[in-house]
Amino acid sequence: MTMMMMITITMMMLMALMLGAAAACIVVLVPLGMAGWHLSRNSVLLFSGAILITLSVCVHFTPYFSSVSDYVTSVSSVAVFHRPKSSCMNLIHRIHWEVKPNASLLSFNATQNLSSSFDFYEKHWDWSKTQRIKACRIHKLSKPEASHLINGSWVLIAGDSQARLFTLSLLNLILGSEPQRMDSVKTALFKRHSNYSISVDEIGMKLDFVWAPYVLNLTHLLTDFKTKKKYPDVMVMGAGLWHMLHVSNPSDYELVLQTLKSSLVSLFPFSTELGIKSPPHLFWLGFPMLINGMLNAHKKRVHMIDAMWHAYDRALSESRLLRQTGGPMILLDIQSLTWNCGAHCTYDGMHYDTAIYEAAVQIMLNSLLIKSRHRH
Ligand SMILES: *[C@@H]1O[C@H](CO)[C@@H](O)[C@H](O)[C@H]1NC(C)=O
Ligand SMILES: *[C@@H]1O[C@H](CO)[C@@H](O)[C@H](O)[C@H]1NC(C)=O
Ligand SMILES: *[C@@H]1O[C@H](CO)[C@@H](O)[C@H](O)[C@H]1NC(C)=O
Ligand SMILES: *[C@@H]1O[C@H](CO)[C@@H](O)[C@H](O)[C@H]1NC(C)=O
Ligand SMILES: *[C@@H]1O[C@H](CO)[C@@H](O)[C@H](O)[C@H]1NC(C)=O
Ligand SMILES: *[C@@H]1O[C@H](CO)[C@@H](O)[C@H](O)[C@H]1NC(C)=O
Repeated sequence: MTMMMMITITMMMLMALMLGAAAACIVVLVPLGMAGWHLSRNSVLLFSGAILITLSVCVHFTPYFSSVSDYVTSVSSVAVFHRPKSSCMNLIHRIHWEVKPNASLLSFNATQNLSSSFDFYEKHWDWSKTQRIKACRIHKLSKPEASHLINGSWVLIAGDSQARLFTLSLLNLILGSEPQRMDSVKTALFKRHSNYSISVDEIGMKLDFVWAPYVLNLTHLLTDFKTKKKYPDVMVMGAGLWHMLHVSNPSDYELVLQTLKSSLVSLFPFSTELGIKSPPHLFWLGFPMLINGMLNAHKKRVHMIDAMWHAYDRALSESRLLRQTGGPMILLDIQSLTWNCGAHCTYDGMHYDTAIYEAAVQIMLNSLLIKSRHRH
């Protein structure tokens, strides 16, 4: 063995040790920091548990995010400016988060009460400023850019409460400068278990939100489109948490997803025929990370455990609904967004800060942009 090799091996071992130490620090120090804040001892214990579990999930998912291989290729391809579509699509989730105490709240007294640590943290996100992201022109779309992109489109968003929050973020981008209009949108959109429709005449956009907590509800919706021979230009769908909570059967979830996939494929044949309207852009809203100790009902804490979450996530891959497994739908990876934003970004372990859904909307718009560039 040469001297060089020995040095390399020693350095690799050192790095592994340092990574381990860093992980241990997070497990020990984060809960301690929280104890200093305002959580009770029990919550701190729950949090350490949650962090341990999430750390193990992190280790589990590291190969999935393939950041190492990406980093290696980025070094060799800095000078390439015209990138193929698939390679740009692979970058749309490369978002980093900055979650830190809100400085203007820090200067307040303890007499000021905050409803939870959730409000105390401000969340900022952006794409990493790498050459590859720049070459793909991935960026946060402004209101005029977004309006131009979805001008004249029919957008359907169907699913559970995550889909509702996504809808709110999309409308907030397009109508955000009109607070009164947004107030009435919010009131109507958040009526429990209801549908919602809006036409934004300025840009000829029609948006439908359909309350569809189960995958079967989504499949029925597609049958409607088939009968009427009319369908939206953009469809964003996502359901699964209700199934996890009330049915708790991953194999059944996989079956209903397969049914949804077959009905999508039969409804929108992916061979483009002359004279036929192009098939809609299909997006799937993925599962958020669930933080069991923060869930707000006993039944949720019992059924929505880590193992069940993993089984449901596996069912999603095995159903081959998503593009990455050969299916028709592009994943909006709420899992990676919520995982990277972390526990301060949720107030009930399941629903997250608006920043998460704002990022998901921007990811969808960027993938529409990437696709549209490649059509011309
Ligand atoms: C904090 O509260 C105390 C007591 O209410 C008050 O005397 C003090 O001026 C406050 N400090 C600031 C920075 O507001
Ligand atoms: C502080 O908390 C108490 C009890 O939860 C509540 O009644 C009060 O309105 C809160 N004050 C502010 C300024 O939010
Ligand atoms: C920080 O807190 C203040 C006071 O509640 C709020 O107005 C402001 O929007 C917060 N900043 C961010 C970036 O969340
Ligand atoms: C939307 O499209 C119409 C017709 O093509 C056009 O007149 C209008 O300027 C467009 N609006 C935006 C915001 O792009
Ligand atoms: C929402 O719309 C779907 C599809 O059009 C329909 O089947 C369902 O009954 C509607 N739900 C409500 C609460 O109106
Ligand atoms: C969704 O599907 C479930 C189970 O099939 C059904 O009980 C429920 O009524 C449906 N809800 C809507 C809004 O269609």
